[in-house]
Amino acid sequence: MSRNLRGLSARQGLDRSLYLATQAASRSDVSRGFAEIAAEFLVSEASLIGASASYDMPRLDQAGKKVLLCAGTACRVSGRQADLQAALSGHFSEAEIGQVTCLGHCHRNDAFLYDQATWTCADLALLGRPGASPPAPRPVPMGTLAAPPVLLAPIPHPAAYYAPLLGLRGAAEPALRAIRASGLRGRGGAGFPFHLKVEAARAAASDQKYVVCNADEGDPGAYSDKWLLEERPHAVLAGMLAMGALIGADTGVLYIRGEYPESLAAIRAAIGELDALGLLEDGRRGAGHTFRFHVIPGAGAYICGEETALLNSIEGLRPEVRVRPPFPTSQGLFGKPTLLSNVETLANLPFILTAGGEAYAAQGLASCTGTKLVSLDGGFNRPGVYEVPMGTPLRQVLEGLGGGTRYPVKAFQIGGPLGGLVPLAQVDGLTLDFEAFAEAGFLLGHAGIIAIPEHFPLAELLAHLFAFTARESCGKCFPCRIGARRGQEMLEGALRQGTRIDPKLFADLLETLELGSLCALGGGLPLPVGNALTYFGAELAPLFREA
Ligand SMILES: Cc1cc2nc3c(=O)[nH]c(=O)nc-3n(C[C@H](O)[C@H](O)[C@H](O)COP(=O)(O)O)c2cc1C
Ligand code: SF4
Repeated sequence: MSRNLRGLSARQGLDRSLYLATQAASRSDVSRGFAEIAAEFLVSEASLIGASASYDMPRLDQAGKKVLLCAGTACRVSGRQADLQAALSGHFSEAEIGQVTCLGHCHRNDAFLYDQATWTCADLALLGRPGASPPAPRPVPMGTLAAPPVLLAPIPHPAAYYAPLLGLRGAAEPALRAIRASGLRGRGGAGFPFHLKVEAARAAASDQKYVVCNADEGDPGAYSDKWLLEERPHAVLAGMLAMGALIGADTGVLYIRGEYPESLAAIRAAIGELDALGLLEDGRRGAGHTFRFHVIPGAGAYICGEETALLNSIEGLRPEVRVRPPFPTSQGLFGKPTLLSNVETLANLPFILTAGGEAYAAQGLASCTGTKLVSLDGGFNRPGVYEVPMGTPLRQVLEGLGGGTRYPVKAFQIGGPLGGLVPLAQVDGLTLDFEAFAEAGFLLGHAGIIAIPEHFPLAELLAHLFAFTARESCGKCFPCRIGARRGQEMLEGALRQGTRIDPKLFADLLETLELGSLCALGGGLPLPVGNALTYFGAELAPLFREA
């Protein structure tokens, strides 16, 4: 019964998208637009308002913001925001300058979004010129310790690149064997074995299946998915196309952060190239089956990176986290079996399917195979995107590749807001892989690395993390919805009003968040906070009452 209802309400699918219609209306005459959409899609206006209010971008448009300054963690701790704000105030009124988190320019710390393009301080002179076109994207520094590189390797002409991947439907077993042998684990943070997802999605019986690429890279400090989308779009698309053939899906959806306009353009251009080459059409040039890509731009909601909130978002529902099971492989997009994976996970597949699973597993560790992209922020002497074999000593990444930091630091925030806070003293014991980080009480996550300057107060960082979680919470469960705000109040009270935090109450709050949250937004916040209390207890002690 509920499945039938879901099928009926979702009948508009992707060709006429409820999400895109709602986003368009949110930016213009909301009341008229919503009434028409409600009638067309058979949904209530209240649910449209709920969905629309979950995203930042339409609201910033409505508030008359013309330029959005990056306020991600890396830019905050870099100390460059005040200068950028001052520079922009020469071009825009205070009311026109808004904030956004994050633009994926963590290597520069001077980015802002204007006129649907990413600009940096170096482009400020262009702003005043009438008719000036947006600046061309600047290359991101990159490097690799991988031999051979898997993700940083240049891609040949698409016709040659896709050819070995297109006949998979008729040769599934060797492909499945290669995926199993590769030991590939999801790169979106959780490290889930990829072959289990593929096998489950393949085994699910359905008239319709989907491959969804999670390109909502929201962790401040991480910009490696952005790099792949812009510099290796065909690796991502080829991975999706191959998985479509393997699980029996004819539709791929890329959900790409709205804060990444250049990524959206690069992926659209690459899909256009494929189309022009006839590589998506049935029977032409040996494709073997028809595949259609849809590109959905996000609209500024961190929680849409969580896979089930992402699916709700695509469907035009409020981007709330779904209870699992059912998992997306059995009931995903529009209730149909869906293989949903991260950009980097998918971009590994062309190598695995052509060079072989063993070749992939030859790099890295037995438990954690292959390579990983790491993003280093502007605190490093050589910030950029680096590809390293799993298990590489962290020190080698920070110093050998990153060239050390530009200023004295006291810790590294690794893996985004839900990742850990690694103090300097712990760096030497750590290797860059899921297990080493988990065993040491940290989280590798997406491997974005932010250098926290020695002078930056950790209490400010913690207040920022609580505020970020409170702001981005989908609101479904109370530990996160209420707890994140209470934690923010406690820390800001101690920082700005001289109140003292009750340590027992704070510990209770962390325990409730960890045990009672439905997803890792609320559930993951206690990790960096706990790291800070463990390693920087003396610095934080003045904020707390005597126990
Ligand atoms: C709050 C939150 C944010 C997340 N953000 C992302 C993200 O930006 N990109 C991503 O791939 N996975 C993100 N994830 C993980 C996804 O839910 C999911 O595990 C992942 O996309 C699965 O792909 P993988 O198996 O290839 O890693 C997030 C999870 C949570 C709880
Ligand atoms: S932990 Fe937060 S973001 Fe996750 S489901 Fe609960 S309220 Fe939503």
